[in-house]
Formats: sequence, structure tokens, C-alpha cells
Amino acid sequence: MNAGRFAWGIAAAALLGLAAPTGAARADDIKIGVILTYSGAFADNAREIDNGMALYMKQHGDTVAGKKIVLIKRDSTGAAPDVAKRLAQELVTRDKVNLLAGFVLTPNALAAAEVSREARVPMVIMNAATSIITTRSPYIVRVSFTLPQVTVPLAQWAARHGIKQVYMMTSDYAPGHDAAAAFEKAFTAAGGQIVGKVAMPLANPDFAAYVQRAGDLKPQAVFLFVPAGQQPVALMKTFAEQGLTRSGLKILATGDVTDDAVLQSMGDAALGIITSHHYSFVHESPENDAFVTQYAKAFGTESRPAFNVVGGYDGMAAIYQALTALKGDVGDPDKVVAAFKGMRIDSPRGPIVIDPATRDVVQTVYIRRVEKVNGQFVNVEFDKIPNVRDPGKEK
Ligand code: PHB
Repeated sequence: MNAGRFAWGIAAAALLGLAAPTGAARADDIKIGVILTYSGAFADNAREIDNGMALYMKQHGDTVAGKKIVLIKRDSTGAAPDVAKRLAQELVTRDKVNLLAGFVLTPNALAAAEVSREARVPMVIMNAATSIITTRSPYIVRVSFTLPQVTVPLAQWAARHGIKQVYMMTSDYAPGHDAAAAFEKAFTAAGGQIVGKVAMPLANPDFAAYVQRAGDLKPQAVFLFVPAGQQPVALMKTFAEQGLTRSGLKILATGDVTDDAVLQSMGDAALGIITSHHYSFVHESPENDAFVTQYAKAFGTESRPAFNVVGGYDGMAAIYQALTALKGDVGDPDKVVAAFKGMRIDSPRGPIVIDPATRDVVQTVYIRRVEKVNGQFVNVEFDKIPNVRDPGKEK
């Protein structure tokens, strides 16, 4: 080899050497495996969570404590626990993610929880709302809500406001079971009576027969839970078609049913429904004003941030806050999960705290009524219960 070539070789090696720190920095990135229902009947929910995460990262940059945040997104399709579990395993073993995040549906979150527990990977729940999820791995933190958390205040409100008899219609899967059990327990404890109940299928439900049965029974009120997405619109359309929305029947529901993402398309069918939930996009606070404005700037036509958007946004806020406290060191999963415990976030929904004992979210639950304000159908908050913990943990 002549001297010239040798020098060139050294220069090339130096160049490669120079490239090395970039490669090493890549290994040093913080990788978050995001598992969401990007396709299928719950794709809108996934897109909303995605938008919330994207908005937070747009506002705060993609670097925390000197480390780049990289999202690796995977589609769990619909309620498909086997798919969700396989994706979580692949993200952990092959992509070597430092955290798992996302999760619209409970069955998918429960399946991935096994991976979180066995592989000791922190996992941030941005929607899935069945109480037990956080008990399935000591590395799970939830920023969204739980069905019992929002349902108990509604049952108590109903009992205090002259409602004595309720017929319950809820989805036949874990969050629906949670909602029905929580409503029945709290409502009967307050002197109310459950005159009947039905569990409706999660997959492709045809609500007509269920709504007809409710109409035939003529209860004073119904209590509803179906997962946000396409089902609430179909359900409320059926109530309207069968003449039950103006019949004097009182409709109580969790805010999943009057989700801001679809409320406008429900129109008059939703007027007067009383719900309880953790977020309405017309919530009055400086934090929410800024959030709604920024969301409209970022996503234009979809200018209504729904509760799933807040789940994604606050999930990223929680992750950024934890990473800052950890100075970017995610080597020890116990330290990572400890960084979330007791955390407080000034969310667009109001203040939230991660309960250090349960790793579940503690927050204000609002009682709302669907009203038409300036031509817009909105969930107007008119009562609130602060610092609500997940009652599902208090057995
Ligand atoms: C859930 O599967 O946990 C779930 C999905 C949609 C909701 C609420 C809960 O609106």
C-alpha cells in the first residue's frame, strides 16, 4: 500500500470514527414503543392519542435531558390481545424500547401488561380504563382515568337528584363490567334501585333490540357505557329513532358516550344527556384555552381535542417529567417507575396526580350536560368532585 492510499485509509477510518458517536448517540436514544389501534373500529381513538403525543412533542421538542425521544409505533388493530402481546414482546426484545405506551383498549393493555411485568418495562396507559390494569404489572402508570372513577360520582349525583330507578346498558367487556358494577354499588348504597341491566357485545353491536327493551321497561333513567369511537353515535341514533330521547327518559352515561370527537355528529340526539368524565374541551381554564388553541393550530379541521387527545398529551408530559427527574437515565426500571409516583401535572383537564401507592391517576371528575352553545354541541361542566381516586382499588 502506498503512502497516499494509507493516508486515505486513515482519513476514511477517521470519518467512520466520526460517524461512531452519532451511532452511539442513537443507541442512547430513549425509545418508546407505542401500541395503538391504528386500524379498525377504534382507529379514531388511536389517531387522537397520536395527535396528543405529537402536540406535546411539537411544543416541548424531541429531546429531554440531552436524549432524543424516538417513538416506535405499532398497530394492535382492534381488540386483539394476542397481537398486542406479540407487538409488546417484539418492541422489547428486538427494538429494545425503554418504555411502552399508548393502549386504547383494555384487552390489549392487559396482554401487554404481562410483557411489562416479565421484562420489567415501564408502561404508560393513555386510555384503557379498567381498574385492574395497573395491578397487572408494578411498572404500569396510568394518566387517563378508570371507569369506576368516573362512574361512582355520577351514580351518587343521580341518587342526590331525584333519580330512583335505573336500567343499565353497558358493553360486555372489562370496562363495561367495571362501569356496571361501580354504578350499581354506588347507586344502591345511596338508596337507588337497579331495575334491570344488559351487557351488549363489544364487536359489531346492533343496539336496536337493547334500546327497545329499555323503552319497554320505561325506567326513570338509563345508565350507559360503550367505548368511545363509532359506537356512541350508533347507540344515540338508535335512542332517537325509537323516540326515547324526548320521552322524558333521563339518560346518564360516562363521558365516553358523549365524546367531544363525535358529539357534533350526534347532534340533537345527545341534547340533555348527563355524563361524568375527566375532560371536556370547553373546560374553563388558562391551561385548556392554550391547549385548545394550540391543537387547532396543529390539526386545523380536527380542532376539537377529545379526551383521548388529552390522554396522549398528558402521557407524554408525564414521560418528559420523569425523564427530566431521571436526568435521562432509564437503566433501572424501578427508578423509572419511582419517578412517576406522586407526579403532578397541570393538565388541560385540571390538575392530576399519579397516586404513589397505585400508580393510577387521581383527578377531578366533572358532571356535565350536553348543551347547544353557539350552534355547537358541547359537554358543559356544572358540578365537580376533586381528587377522585380509582374506587376500584378500595376493596
Ligand atoms: C377500554 O377498553 O378500556 C376503553 C375503551 C374506550 C373507552 C373507555 C375504555 O372510551
